[in-house]
Amino acid sequence: MIGRLNHVAIAVPDLEAASEQYRSALGAKVNPPQDEPDHGVTVVFIELPNTKIELLYPLGENSPIKGFLDKNPSGGIHHICYEVDDIIAARDHLLETGARVLGTGEPKIGAHGKPVLFLHPKDFNGTLVELEQV
Ligand code: CO
Repeated sequence: MIGRLNHVAIAVPDLEAASEQYRSALGAKVNPPQDEPDHGVTVVFIELPNTKIELLYPLGENSPIKGFLDKNPSGGIHHICYEVDDIIAARDHLLETGARVLGTGEPKIGAHGKPVLFLHPKDFNGTLVELEQV
């Protein structure tokens, strides 16, 4: 059911420093920051040949990243995103297996303009999983 790894998201305490590190030290193609007010984050996309890295930084008071950075002050892997062809079919299949979908259970439009859902980390070995319909 799941396809390619779309991205790995890393929460960072200093977006400019992290972007510069990926640009200079790691030699990656780093895009300019993008505010995503609906998701409470500012995102920097880093393009790799086979996937993307998303640097996440809190935006606004109710950012879901804020608590994560409080617990992980030097940053950390926040979630991984797998591609699916049909997000509703994927969700319904996962619900049948007993997995929990976060929020209302209805897909939201994610940072790439495509429908996304998040799955409960406790159901996936402590990893927050995002599904994106491509
Ligand atoms: Co993501």
